[in-house]
Amino acid sequence: MSRESSKYLKHRRFVVSACLVVSSSISRRSLCTSPPKNASTGGRLWQRIPLRRGLLLPQLGFGTGRPGGSREPQVTLEDGRRRLVAAVKTALRTGYRLVDTSLFSGMETAVVEGIRQSGVERSEVVVATKLLQMAHNSSEAVHASVENSLRNLNCSCIDLYLLQSPRAGRILDVWPQLIRLRNEGLIGALGVSNFGAHQLEGMRQSGLELPEVNQVEVHCWRQLPALTEYHRTHGIVTMCMAPLARGEMFGKTEVATIAQELGQTEAAVAVRWCLQMGYIPIPRSVRSSRILENTASGFELSVSQMERIGRMNVAYVACRKASPCCEIPWEAIAESIPDKSLWDESKKRKVEAAERRSQLQEERARKALERKQQQIRAQVSSQNSQSRRKSEIVILSELVQQQMGERYLRKLNFWSTWLPPMAVRSRLHRASADGHYARLSEAQQQLQLVSLGPELSHELLTTEL
Ligand SMILES: NC(=O)c1ccc[n+]([C@@H]2O[C@H](COP(=O)([O-])OP(=O)(O)OC[C@H]3O[C@@H](n4cnc5c(N)ncnc54)[C@H](OP(=O)(O)O)[C@@H]3O)[C@@H](O)[C@H]2O)c1
Repeated sequence: MSRESSKYLKHRRFVVSACLVVSSSISRRSLCTSPPKNASTGGRLWQRIPLRRGLLLPQLGFGTGRPGGSREPQVTLEDGRRRLVAAVKTALRTGYRLVDTSLFSGMETAVVEGIRQSGVERSEVVVATKLLQMAHNSSEAVHASVENSLRNLNCSCIDLYLLQSPRAGRILDVWPQLIRLRNEGLIGALGVSNFGAHQLEGMRQSGLELPEVNQVEVHCWRQLPALTEYHRTHGIVTMCMAPLARGEMFGKTEVATIAQELGQTEAAVAVRWCLQMGYIPIPRSVRSSRILENTASGFELSVSQMERIGRMNVAYVACRKASPCCEIPWEAIAESIPDKSLWDESKKRKVEAAERRSQLQEERARKALERKQQQIRAQVSSQNSQSRRKSEIVILSELVQQQMGERYLRKLNFWSTWLPPMAVRSRLHRASADGHYARLSEAQQQLQLVSLGPELSHELLTTEL
């Protein structure tokens, strides 16, 4: 080879590699046209949906969590991590190009390792991760959450960053901060998760920019037509978390019949429904065969099959902690962190049970008081004023005894037996500091005890404590 031609080849190699670098850096924003490596998955995996600000999201995503956790406690953290690395690697080799993770799961580094082991260019893959919910407490924590994800994902810009849940609260502070971080270049696209239409509308009416993506539990068995219509109107892409409803509805509905007709699994039909609706499903599995099955490739749902699924929306909720958060009123999340009972069913049940218990107690106390009043009336009607006064004091003491310390009551009995009313009153005044005074006057009133003197009751009630 002449010196001229070898120089030319060197130059050409340089140009080609430079083009590759440029194309890999722009591929996040350009339609990926590479042919699928696994022909059986078909071309759909490579279809991309444009977000409002230009990022092209692969239409099929891969869901990840922490394998093990509370559902499989026998799986150790290390084991879970190994499984996830292998699953992400398989998913990418199968053709998935979007991976969903979160800082909370502690598995961001496993996702990165899975991508590395797959041999797929990092720039070909869109990684979505999420803000820690407890980071909503302060702007420092929001910043730290973003920084931690950047470090774990080993990148200078997070492709897609989601605010995980409205239940974390303080949206009017946290969302503008995320927008600022995006404008500074630390985040590519911004989305939310588990938001309902009224919460998105709350953001809009507060003058906030709307998210580009809302990751919500939408599947054949929970179709949320009003929310997805809101998304369509405002250019928000619907990302379907738990698109298989965690397998909890398999074999129970029309989806099973349709799967049978097509010779497909219900999982494949469920994913295909999401794809044909124009949503982005992110099914999760650690098993290679299911990872392939969940690509839902090689078949289509007919118009009538789509309509049949559309008619069987049974509003089934598989993510029982995350999904109810879309119901929390906007006012409760806009500026503050909402009470747990607003979104946690078990907490809500506990609060309701406590309310029922306290109502029952109040009712019992009211009935006891009525009985006491009747008893007093019967007891004192025949007594002379001196003994009547004494017995009223005793009754009053008994009643207050249930609420106050024994020691104080002995004193009260002593005073009322031996001291004139004026002296009792002044001592009661002194006792007022510890709150007994008010309760005593209330008890006296409720029992309609008169012998201590009406002026005492009046004074007890009107004195500023
Ligand atoms: N933003 C949020 O608050 C939030 C909440 C929940 C989920 N998510 C995201 O959504 C993703 C998916 O949700 P998800 O994992 O809760 O539910 P999912 O994807 O609907 O279901 C996953 C479950 O179904 C099983 N499975 C997977 N493919 C299957 C198949 N073909 N046939 C039968 N069973 C199959 C999996 O078990 P194997 O692994 O054993 O196959 C796993 O137990 C998560 O990974 C996460 O990224 C987000």
